[in-house]
Amino acid sequence: MIDRRSLLAGAAALGAAPALASAAPALARAAKASASPEFPKGFLWGASTAPHQIEGNNTTSDLWYLEHQQPTVFAVPSGDAANSFLMWEQDLDLAHNIGLNTYRFGVEWARIEPAKGQFSQAMIDHYARIVDGCRARGLTPVVTFSHFSAPLWFSAQGGWSNPESADLFARYADKVTRAIGDRIHAAITFNEPNILLLLQNANVPPELWKIQALTLETAARRLGVPRFLSANVAGVDDLPDLQKGLLAAHKAGRAAIKAAAPRLPVGLSLAMMDDQAVGRNSQRDARRQQMYGVWLDVAKGDDFIGVQNYERALWGPNGRLPAPEGALHNWSGAEVWAPSLAGAVRYAHAATGVPILVSEHGVGTEDDAVRAAFIPAALKELKRAIDDGVPVMGYCHWSLVDNFEWVFGYKPKFGLASFDPVTFARTPKPSAAVLGAIARANRV
Ligand code: BGC
Repeated sequence: MIDRRSLLAGAAALGAAPALASAAPALARAAKASASPEFPKGFLWGASTAPHQIEGNNTTSDLWYLEHQQPTVFAVPSGDAANSFLMWEQDLDLAHNIGLNTYRFGVEWARIEPAKGQFSQAMIDHYARIVDGCRARGLTPVVTFSHFSAPLWFSAQGGWSNPESADLFARYADKVTRAIGDRIHAAITFNEPNILLLLQNANVPPELWKIQALTLETAARRLGVPRFLSANVAGVDDLPDLQKGLLAAHKAGRAAIKAAAPRLPVGLSLAMMDDQAVGRNSQRDARRQQMYGVWLDVAKGDDFIGVQNYERALWGPNGRLPAPEGALHNWSGAEVWAPSLAGAVRYAHAATGVPILVSEHGVGTEDDAVRAAFIPAALKELKRAIDDGVPVMGYCHWSLVDNFEWVFGYKPKFGLASFDPVTFARTPKPSAAVLGAIARANRV
């Protein structure tokens, strides 16, 4: 089975909405002046999820279809996932009981518009109930509009490579915003639209790209369409079209959300490593440009940027270097290095000037003691970045509960809680108490 994260590694308060961006420098100055052990007042302490990864039975989505091709890049189908479509109230209770004040989740376009132009009021109402359920429990809702999955019909018409895609995304974003835009705290248009650029900058075997392309070709042939393309499964030749389409869709989506809810902060989230230059003539800056360049530029026009960090990358003159000897490793062999979060956050802010929301950060491991130690260690460094003047509005841990890890299936464990595969009962892990205590105290 192809393991994308290990390949990557082995290869070497959001405040009052309208005032968000302008309030950031003042907030930063205040944080610096006091350097109190507390995180800024109103700091968001949350956990993140994505619809396709926890809801289960997302049968009208592109990824569900790809999971069921032969051959497929997916290790197993998503199936019931954590059954969160039915158990969302338990998930909200879980987040609340852990001691968090924020929940980042996604609305699933494939459910909301299961056939082109046919919007489901019932599904829009479903997500509106989750928003209200958050509010009822004191959880601030942060909502992702597109977390890799899309409707099957959309990807079967070329997905983000279809010139119509930006308008279609904007139409969907408008419908969602009209329903929930007045009650959510922030909107993330796209989750990690640059994920495949990270993969492109890893020395992955060409077979990985080939099996992704083959999965898409198989789906296209079965459906009798010329091109099937999804946001996180693509052939290497698809990347220029995919990036162009996602960029246009982010801009169109942002405009649609702003038109429907002018006060709602809008941004996107990026997969960001903590890229470090080693020696002279390091490739670090060139790699950064390839992996994040256009997205950091577009984020300058957003209200905030979501940073999603899981690792650091050491770049020498000839490419990525292995992790230092004795490094701690996650399930896939990638280095676990707690200061990487703060490094990525500092860079994202320096490059964009906008406030930061840590929209994901975590570690895939069966050993929850690693997670329990990793969280406070990373947060100490994050606090130092805040004290140095970086406006960080919140921290959302990936993930609330173990989930479907895309092509790797259910093997990697990222949750603050596990779930029973038969009853779906959630059980918090000890690391949940560690994060909860920090959140309640608003300090590490
Ligand atoms: C994604 C999540 C994923 C996580 C852990 C991020 O790339 O946004 O969907 O589960 O990393 O691999």
